[in-house]
Amino acid sequence: MPDTVRVPLGDRSYDVVVGSSLLGNCAESIGEVLGKPRLFVLFDEAVALPWAQQVMDSLSTAGFAFDHVSVPSGEKSKSVAEISRLWEMMAQRAFTRDTTLVAVGGGVIGDLGGFLAGSYLRGIPFVQIPTTLLAMVDSSVGGKTGINLQAGKNLVGAFWQPALVLADIDTLSTLPIEEFRSGMAEVIKYGVIRDPDLFSWLEQLGPNPAAADLTRIVHRSVQIKAEVVSGDERETTGLRAILNFGHTLGHAIEAEGAYSAFRHGEAIAIGMVAASLLALKRETGWSSDDHSRLEKLLKQSELPTSLPKGYSARRLIDRTRVDKKAVSGQVRYILPTSLGSVKFVKGVDENAVLSVLHEIGAAPE
Ligand SMILES: NC(=O)c1ccc[n+]([C@@H]2O[C@H](COP(=O)([O-])OP(=O)(O)OC[C@H]3O[C@@H](n4cnc5c(N)ncnc54)[C@H](O)[C@@H]3O)[C@@H](O)[C@H]2O)c1
Ligand SMILES: [Zn+2]
Repeated sequence: MPDTVRVPLGDRSYDVVVGSSLLGNCAESIGEVLGKPRLFVLFDEAVALPWAQQVMDSLSTAGFAFDHVSVPSGEKSKSVAEISRLWEMMAQRAFTRDTTLVAVGGGVIGDLGGFLAGSYLRGIPFVQIPTTLLAMVDSSVGGKTGINLQAGKNLVGAFWQPALVLADIDTLSTLPIEEFRSGMAEVIKYGVIRDPDLFSWLEQLGPNPAAADLTRIVHRSVQIKAEVVSGDERETTGLRAILNFGHTLGHAIEAEGAYSAFRHGEAIAIGMVAASLLALKRETGWSSDDHSRLEKLLKQSELPTSLPKGYSARRLIDRTRVDKKAVSGQVRYILPTSLGSVKFVKGVDENAVLSVLHEIGAAPE
């Protein structure tokens, strides 16, 4: 039986269904929520077979009218050029407001497809069918959509909630192991910010969870993300910022590695270790035992916990100042206070950050 998490957002509320064999029955699930609209199915070229095919077979059998288009894999598809190609294609094919867009793929397709749906004819409904662990536990829930500019990642976009999310665990069977691990970093993050039981359970599970455990992992992560975003849909009250634990320095590390040295989750793993060390220095209540457990769990999940040679502490700090989540030039850190809770800290002493970065392997200058 699939598990469903309701994301309560008033008239924008929706269900995230987590389970196995969901793709083969997706027409039924879509039909229950949206009736029988014309569909535009967007899929990552890497998931054409068997996943996108299963979606299309289910839609054909149920008699849905749909067009489909394959999008090249990778971050470069979150671009003005790609969305422009898709806008034009939708207009040429005379898609009207009663169309629903279906995005099948990882966070790239979800973010691009979500923004396409949010902007075409000022907004049409969309369905997310995430096929990476990261997309299941993070990007498909919460309504942030967008594309990148030359000047930086995710600089153009909109909040546009999906009408339904179908997270089919089976799709993870073809996901490259590095991508899986990268998604696990976000799961571990949820344990630290919100759920000590999830954290302890991950410690016991080991690096290769079985399908039933994966369903539980995704389900619990989605519940946490849903709780947080429903309390702060548009990042105005501050609650949503707790999702940024490990991300202030993580984003700097990703950017400093030109987005090719590390996957997102790998950079976040190192960022979480750095934030954990900062919490020890600031005496937030976080203990050295908590720190060791976090480091051990990341290692057990085969994620990096320190920087390779060649990263300058100074340059990383400079990068945190231009992070788009810095407010009025103030860098904000989310620091753990105990397993399952974090606090928001502004004005962290730069020397403390420098010293932590040295501890995790950054060069002095
Ligand atoms: N909207 C949000 O709230 C939010 C949150 C976090 C991240 N993001 C965005 O998500 C993106 C990263 O998402 P991602 O990690 O899913 O990356 P991705 O979409 O690039 O997918 C990773 C790789 O896995 C491949 N792939 C996807 N599913 C597969 C499957 N089932 N089998 C085999 N290969 C598969 C893809 O082709 C790609 O090469 C970034 O652009 C990031 O900005 C958005
Ligand atoms: Zn993240």
